[in-house]
Amino acid sequence: MTLAHRLHDWFVKNQRDLPWRRTKDPYAIWLSEIMLQQTRVTAVIPYYERFLERFPTYKELATASESELLAMWSGLGYYSRARNLQKAARLMVEMGSFPSTYEQIHELPGVGDYTAAAVASIAFGLPRVGLDGNIVRVIARWTAESGDVKTFTIRARLQQVAQNQIDAEDPGTYKQALMELGATICLPKAPKCLYCPINEDCGARLQGLQYSIPIQIGKTTQISEERTVLWIRKEEQILLWQRPLDSKRLAGFWELPEPEKLTQAKLFENLGEFSHSIVNHKYRIILREAKLDGGAGDLCQWVRLDQLKDLPISTILRKSLRILKLDPRRERTEGVS
Ligand code: ADE
Repeated sequence: MTLAHRLHDWFVKNQRDLPWRRTKDPYAIWLSEIMLQQTRVTAVIPYYERFLERFPTYKELATASESELLAMWSGLGYYSRARNLQKAARLMVEMGSFPSTYEQIHELPGVGDYTAAAVASIAFGLPRVGLDGNIVRVIARWTAESGDVKTFTIRARLQQVAQNQIDAEDPGTYKQALMELGATICLPKAPKCLYCPINEDCGARLQGLQYSIPIQIGKTTQISEERTVLWIRKEEQILLWQRPLDSKRLAGFWELPEPEKLTQAKLFENLGEFSHSIVNHKYRIILREAKLDGGAGDLCQWVRLDQLKDLPISTILRKSLRILKLDPRRERTEGVS
């Protein structure tokens, strides 16, 4: 049996039941692939379901207000993804349909090689496969690749292997099976080789190299930092600031103030701590209760807690609200059910 056939059989029996695997709608598949860029499956599922309920087709997405769109995305991070989704949806309205060739899909804002191949293969059965971290690991191990997988040359080689092995009859399942194997069996630190459907001819395993491949010399290191954010409450309002609308990151999002920006604040109790990662920064966020010693100044504004569900709020603010059991989304769903 070929690699693709073994992967196919294994995937059919062992795949996780994920909501985007129950549809053939290109719009929904595209949405899932965009949400899954840099974001874990378990984090994506509730967003994916809520988003599709509110924007079931690209038409509703195209006409949404930016503020509602960002509020729906709030907590997923990398907000340019949401803005690009809407730009793409507006293009689809102009074109009159979802694009159906690899090249047209690739032209959509926010879509790179990997995502274009994923949508083309899963939604349209086109023979394309792209590389993500999981697929790189599986192919690098299977071919016992000894080069640095961060380099262009080695990635091009892995891409060629993945493409040569494609299942022309069912390229969508082939792509998902490779990815699923990487996510559940061919794990970065502790691969479960005994359960792997392609262990018999896996080069890394045959040579005992499964723990040292893939080699990543150019891997970026994480920078750890501690930050304090302030919880300043006046009855049913909290003090927040809004990022400028032309800001490069999180434009228009609401944030908790930091003591460096609000020097008139007096710090009190530590209300909780959590970690928060952005690109190569790992922050330890400390949520401190504070009180104003003087006015709020120009930077901040008082915002009512019941308004938060309709505003784009940063993940740090969302995590802080969760610690204080004030998650606006939870209140909203409880209200509906
Ligand atoms: N990561 C990227 N694409 C995915 C998919 N279709 N299913 C699960 N995880 C993914």
